This record gives sequence, structure tokens and C-alpha cells, in this order.
Amino acid sequence: MATKGIDISLAKAYLEADELVAVPTETVYGLAGNALHAKAVAKIFDAKNRPSFDPLIIHVPNAEHLERYVKKIPKQAEQLINHFWPGPLTVVLPKKEIIPDLVTAGLDSVGVRCPDHHLTHQLLRQLDFPLAAPSANPFGYVSPTTAVHVEEQLGAKIPYILDGGPCKVGIESTIMGFENDKPIIYRRGGISNEAIERVIGPVESRLHSTSNPKAPGQLQSHYAPRKPFLLGDIDQLLTTVKGKKVGILRYKKSQDPAENEIVLSPTENMAEAAQNLFAALRQLDAMNIDLIIAEKVPDIGIGKAINDRLTRAAAASS
Ligand code: TXA
Ligand code: MG
Repeated sequence: MATKGIDISLAKAYLEADELVAVPTETVYGLAGNALHAKAVAKIFDAKNRPSFDPLIIHVPNAEHLERYVKKIPKQAEQLINHFWPGPLTVVLPKKEIIPDLVTAGLDSVGVRCPDHHLTHQLLRQLDFPLAAPSANPFGYVSPTTAVHVEEQLGAKIPYILDGGPCKVGIESTIMGFENDKPIIYRRGGISNEAIERVIGPVESRLHSTSNPKAPGQLQSHYAPRKPFLLGDIDQLLTTVKGKKVGILRYKKSQDPAENEIVLSPTENMAEAAQNLFAALRQLDAMNIDLIIAEKVPDIGIGKAINDRLTRAAAASS
């Protein structure tokens, strides 16, 4: 059973022995192992029940380390890295041989990011290898944003959870690739399209997974609670589920809150909504209810990334 704590030396010792450690980042908790050792990487796929066709991203302590693992850094990637690292931006670039094929599911590119969390940053600086780390949840379930979330689901499978408190961004990193040096957003995340475009100008998005061999992990049903999950106009949905015990997920406060209702952002602020999203889905999933109904948040800024996750959660129920 995992213990939780802030002992970086202990986390380092486990990782050096090819064991897994859950680590905090500003986005979500990651399930980390030595990215250069296939043995450790295999344990990640195993613990998460993750299909081996879904590539992992690697985490580095700073931009200088990037050159050790990728062959080429296009100019726009460099501009974005200078602007957003450490932070919730993953860049997908051509990988060097040193990265095992297991990490990238056989692709010749690797996703790399530099997380913005003091504990994980200290840990990465002390390691002489990068950390492969997907979100620390069973495959397909909601990502964890606290050490307790990780403990509940993966506690029996790993020795240690580095406890860095609740994640301050709350949704995963934005993933970008560069095809013929042209920037493309593969996954919406903690950095909005608008913020990216302010740095490098207009950017194309290519988000739909199943038809997208570049990001096989972007499956349509993902981030999903186990309870049936309906997305739409709450009042309208309520008329269709009479007689059922319902949990409600709202963006902002309602005038007459129902019993099992969670509000993502009492102050109507998108960053707050993102921070609360995954904990709210977990809380609703644990309630004594038959199903969850939810509404989208305003489709602006990182609201688009939140809506993307809500849509994928609903896709699992359709
Ligand atoms: O915020 C985050 O990115 C978190 C924290 C822990 O850093 N990590 C995370 O990892 O969300 P994961 O494995 O849950 O999602 C990474 C996604 C996967 O869906 C995968 O398909 C995509 O990144 N990916 C990884 N390598 C790729 C590559 N070479 N090309 C395209 N997509 C890639
Ligand atoms: Mg994930």
C-alpha cells in the first residue's frame, strides 16, 4: 500500500530502483517511472491498465534537458517553450534513440513537458533521467487532482505518493505537435488556444482521436465517471429523468440548488472551474445517485478544454 509524503529522497530512491511514484504537477497527478528504462515504463502501463498503443509523455526539469531527448526543436516550439515552461504545455517532437519505443508506442515522436510544481521540480533536478508519467488514474477514468484521489485508485499498486496538495490548474496539459514545422494542437488543456496564438499566431487544432493516429490516447470516451453522465441543458434533462436520483454539475450557482448539486465555479471564473472539475466528477460518482447531469461551461479560453472533457465523459454513457 502506498504511503503519502513529501520525502523527495525516498521518491528518488524508488524511481532509481525502477519502481513507480505518483507525483504532483500543476495539471493533474502523474504516475511516474524512469522514462529510459523499459522495465519501469512497462509497470506504468500495467498499473494503469493502459493499452500499449497509447504513448506516454516525459517530464524534464527545464528546457535545456529537452535537447537530450529530441532531434529537432522547431522555432515555434522554442518560442512556446520559452513562454510557457514550466507549465501545462506538452510538445511532441522527433525522438532520439535513447527514448524506448515502449514510451512512444512505437511512434518516432515523443511528448515532453516541464511541469510547474516545486516538489516534482526538485525531484526532476535530482534525477539523471526524465520521468514518463501519464495521469495517475486507471485508464479511461477521471484524472486525479489530489494525493487522496491517487491513493484511492492506485494505492495498492505503487509504493509512494509524493503529496503536493491539490493541483492548481486541474486539467491536463495542452499537447502540441509540429508537422513540417507547422504547429498543431492535439489536445486542449491548461493553456488556451488564444494564449498560444498570442505567442505564435494562428494555430490549427486536430483533436479527434479515433481518426488521429498521432494521438491514439485521445479516445472519444475518456475522463469518464462510472455513473451514467448526461450533458446538456440541466432543466431540460431534469424533465427526462423523473423518478431517478440525480446529481447535478453546474458551472455557476443556481437560484434554487438541488440536494446533490455541485457548482464548478461559484465566482464564475474559468480557472476555478478547471481546478474543481475532476474532484467534482469524483464526488458525484461517489454519491448515492442513479446518474449525473451536467451543463457545459462558457466555451471561451480554457472553458473549451473543460467542455472537451465533459463531452468525452458523456460519450462513455452514449
Ligand atoms: O498534464 C499532463 O499532461 C499530465 C501530467 C501528469 O503531466 N499527463 C497526462 O498524460 O495527461 P496522459 O498519458 O494521461 O496523456 C498524454 C496524452 C496521451 O493521450 C497520448 O496519446 C498523447 O499524450 N501523446 C503522448 N505522446 C504522444 C505522441 N508522440 N504523439 C501524439 N500524442 C502523444
Ligand atoms: Mg490521462
